[in-house]
Amino acid sequence: MRVIVTGGAGFIGSHLVERLLERGDEVVCVDDFNDFYDPRRKWANLNHMALAHPRFDLIEGDFAAPEVLGAAFVAPPTAVVHMAARAGVRPSLAAPALYYRVNCENTANLLEACREHGIARFVFASSSSVYGGNTKVPFAESDPVDRPVSPYAATKRAGELLCATYNHLYGIHTTCLRFFTVYGPRQRPEMAIHQFARLIEAGESLPMFGDGGSARDYTYVDDIVEGVLRALDRPAGFRIYNLGSSRPIPLADLITMLGEALGVRPKVEQRSSQPGDVEATSADITRAAEELGYSPNVPFEEGLRRFVEWFEDASG
Ligand SMILES: NC(=O)c1ccc[n+]([C@@H]2O[C@H](COP(=O)([O-])OP(=O)(O)OC[C@H]3O[C@@H](n4cnc5c(N)ncnc54)[C@H](O)[C@@H]3O)[C@@H](O)[C@H]2O)c1
Repeated sequence: MRVIVTGGAGFIGSHLVERLLERGDEVVCVDDFNDFYDPRRKWANLNHMALAHPRFDLIEGDFAAPEVLGAAFVAPPTAVVHMAARAGVRPSLAAPALYYRVNCENTANLLEACREHGIARFVFASSSSVYGGNTKVPFAESDPVDRPVSPYAATKRAGELLCATYNHLYGIHTTCLRFFTVYGPRQRPEMAIHQFARLIEAGESLPMFGDGGSARDYTYVDDIVEGVLRALDRPAGFRIYNLGSSRPIPLADLITMLGEALGVRPKVEQRSSQPGDVEATSADITRAAEELGYSPNVPFEEGLRRFVEWFEDASG
């Protein structure tokens, strides 16, 4: 099938693009290579295999700009996977209007383009952050999500609601996937594992917000991509699925394991918890398992080893 992947040069998007090409699909990647982090990393992500691939097309620009949409939809795709966003909880506190514009307004424009071009399938990259300060663990799709604790989370929830609306009004199959902290090769440089690896390797102390007991359900990028493909291949009206690994790792353990994998003892500087952060995330993946056959299979130790291998290679 022909698939538009917005944000296809990013961390998760570039892995998805490769898997789609490997299995024989045609891919149109739309990415504006913005400077949220060094755009050279994004070019490198695509260089890995996509840029030279005969079934790969790149459109450089904002996914909501009319001329970009016009070029992307020139040959109507079977599906759109919407990965492009301003990502990250903490940076959203400094730029809420930007997050709103890119993640809400522009997502509405993209859905509108799907309606105009008769696109039947839309897969949306949502986030575990929509669960806000939910203290009931693990988080299930039926849990209340009306108390986001960051602008980023609010924009992702708004994106889900837009998906529900476009399914209701126009029958577009819209699937929202709530990713739980994704890691692996090419991870965004400001995300914890990547940032910590840089600091540990440089012998600098790393900030540990809180007492080290806060936990994240780290999910390896290949497992996420497998979940995205399964959702893409099973249009089913409006659906929401958690994609996580169901094994929360406390921050202090992550730091120890990462230090071991890098062969360097980490220096830790304890700081107070950050506003917008949540104490623990943990995915109930029963629905994704039952309806998509989703089953994450990269254990954290193995995923961390693969990340470190890539990190050491990439940092030369
Ligand atoms: N990484 C995670 O742990 C995680 C967790 C939950 C949800 N998500 C979501 O998954 C998606 C991918 O995240 P990622 O970590 O790969 O982020 P990323 O920043 O590496 O990738 C996003 C890509 O989108 C592009 N982009 C942003 N705005 C654009 C615009 N207006 N027009 C065209 N392209 C644009 C960026 O240039 C970038 O290449 C995002 O929607 C994010 O919110 C990620």
